[in-house]
Amino acid sequence: MDTVLLNNQIEMPIQGIGTKDLFDPDICEQVVLFSFMNGYRLIDTTPSYHNQASIGIVISELSIDRSELFITSRISPFYYKKNRTLRCIEKTLKNLRTDYLDLALLETPIIKGWQNAWQQLEKAVEKGLVKSIGVCNFMTEKSLDELCSIANIKPVVDQIQCHPFLQQRHIQKKLNEKNIQLEAWYPLGHGHSLLLNNSVLMDIATAHHTTVPQIILKWHQQMGHVYITKSSNPDHIQRNLHLDHLCLTPDDMKQIEALDVSRSFYQIPEFVQKLEYSLVH
Ligand SMILES: NC(=O)c1ccc[n+]([C@@H]2O[C@H](COP(=O)([O-])OP(=O)(O)OC[C@H]3O[C@@H](n4cnc5c(N)ncnc54)[C@H](OP(=O)(O)O)[C@@H]3O)[C@@H](O)[C@H]2O)c1
Repeated sequence: MDTVLLNNQIEMPIQGIGTKDLFDPDICEQVVLFSFMNGYRLIDTTPSYHNQASIGIVISELSIDRSELFITSRISPFYYKKNRTLRCIEKTLKNLRTDYLDLALLETPIIKGWQNAWQQLEKAVEKGLVKSIGVCNFMTEKSLDELCSIANIKPVVDQIQCHPFLQQRHIQKKLNEKNIQLEAWYPLGHGHSLLLNNSVLMDIATAHHTTVPQIILKWHQQMGHVYITKSSNPDHIQRNLHLDHLCLTPDDMKQIEALDVSRSFYQIPEFVQKLEYSLVH
């Protein structure tokens, strides 16, 4: 598995397992086990998906050495206040049946208290509970600047929605300047048919004798992104990992660049809308 070197000199695999919508414990265990056995080493988890206990069962029974895995968990805004962030990490470690997280991420800067949560993440690093810390959905220069100004430990990753219809080039530029790695969620646009049936991508896929998802994932690689795909389909799980035979031409990359229409496929969940009273602005 190829890796990138983070700004704290820790290596992170470039492709990972997404765990959203894996509600059924048996299916979750099957998908996660199959993915690890087929070569995935990075996994993205969060207590909000209510499946960390199932993932923990797989982790505890894996024949792969823990040091080869890269386990991420996220801190949702529910855990930003007082000592809740540290408690959230401790509970996560118990559920995932591991002694440490490779990466812990704050989920969003738009809820009050993220600065306090960041300080608690730094404590988690000091306590050896977490190796690296980063953020999700820090989408503006202002939020990234504020984060860097309060941080004693530099964030290694910003996990944001990113795919050919929402390329985030402006943020990528800022992240490059700050040496923070872009990690793409919804790398395949959550499987939306508008993206997967796009005629430009289909033509490029035909020219390379492959599929649109493989073209999109190769594009992420050539853009320097880390990305986390989610699939419950064994064929997709395997295909998404095997991209070494592909190389997109400068013309392919240019055509994909032109597909950027700033289109998000994410619907803000109801629970976040209910938190509106505590939004920062
Ligand atoms: N930080 C955040 O705020 C945040 C927000 C949302 C998500 N995330 C993370 O990002 C992860 C990735 O997002 P996502 O779950 O939407 O993943 P995604 O990979 O963008 O899309 C998943 C969809 O694509 C389909 N798919 C995957 N591989 C395919 C292939 N080779 N051919 C055709 N269809 C394919 C899947 O269907 P099949 O099952 O049929 O393959 C599924 O419907 C999540 O699981 C979660 O861990 C983070």
